[in-house]
Amino acid sequence: MTDSLSRADIVDMLRQHVEAGCTDMLADAPIDHFSTPESVPEAAPAPIMADAAAEAIAAPSSAQPDIAKPEAPAQANAATDADTQALAAAADGLDDLRTAMENFDGCGLKKTAKNTVFCDGVRGAKIMLIGEAPGGDEDREGKPFVGRSGQLLDAMLAAIGVNRAENLYISNIIAWRPPGNRTPSADEIALCKPFIARHIALAKPDILLLVGNISNKTLLETETGITKLRGQWQNYQADGLSIPALPLLHPAYVLRRPETKSDYWQDLCGLKTRLAD
Ligand code: URA
Repeated sequence: MTDSLSRADIVDMLRQHVEAGCTDMLADAPIDHFSTPESVPEAAPAPIMADAAAEAIAAPSSAQPDIAKPEAPAQANAATDADTQALAAAADGLDDLRTAMENFDGCGLKKTAKNTVFCDGVRGAKIMLIGEAPGGDEDREGKPFVGRSGQLLDAMLAAIGVNRAENLYISNIIAWRPPGNRTPSADEIALCKPFIARHIALAKPDILLLVGNISNKTLLETETGITKLRGQWQNYQADGLSIPALPLLHPAYVLRRPETKSDYWQDLCGLKTRLAD
């Protein structure tokens, strides 16, 4: 049968398999889709293949199936925004801030999280990327963006010469995993905002990459959604700072909607141009 297929046909078929997710590992064990949502095993991170950067850009990867999870009830915060404001302001350096956050028990999210996810990457890097909140993999490892969406982010940034080993510093609006990966509540965001504001002030980046809706709405104090804002340079203004900020789609969204990968790539090209200036 292959005698009648051209090389281009075969490559096309392979591409379709990749796009359909045949190369993506979802979990170590088979998933029983008839089980209750609570008993569905956590998805394992997909292995990054040797040419992942090129693949990630050229071919959309398939998203992990959305598994409906019951909303976990919010645990009440035991501290106020004024408490976190005071704690954050008292931190003189990044180590201080990290210790203050690790010792802080006032956020309800911390009760169910395994780790305080503070940062990853290079201190003093010109570029600081800020996401929403840790997911399961990040909570386990104590580092931001190490799961499947982080791998896509890494691959795409690497293609423009940006990586956490050399020139990128990463954190999140919220340092503790919301149970079941639910969206953090307005109260949780308000409580944690002084921490990330202080984190930015101490890290002193030249450029901010704001990833996803929560990151943009919180730090730019805007109601405009990320799909409108993406790719358009903004200014983060706080604590006497004014830092150019590039809103980007969240990589988890790009994984769910592979057709948005070209938008993502276009926005990263805008970043590459700016870095070359
Ligand atoms: N999503 C985020 O916004 N941040 C992480 O660290 C991981 C997933």
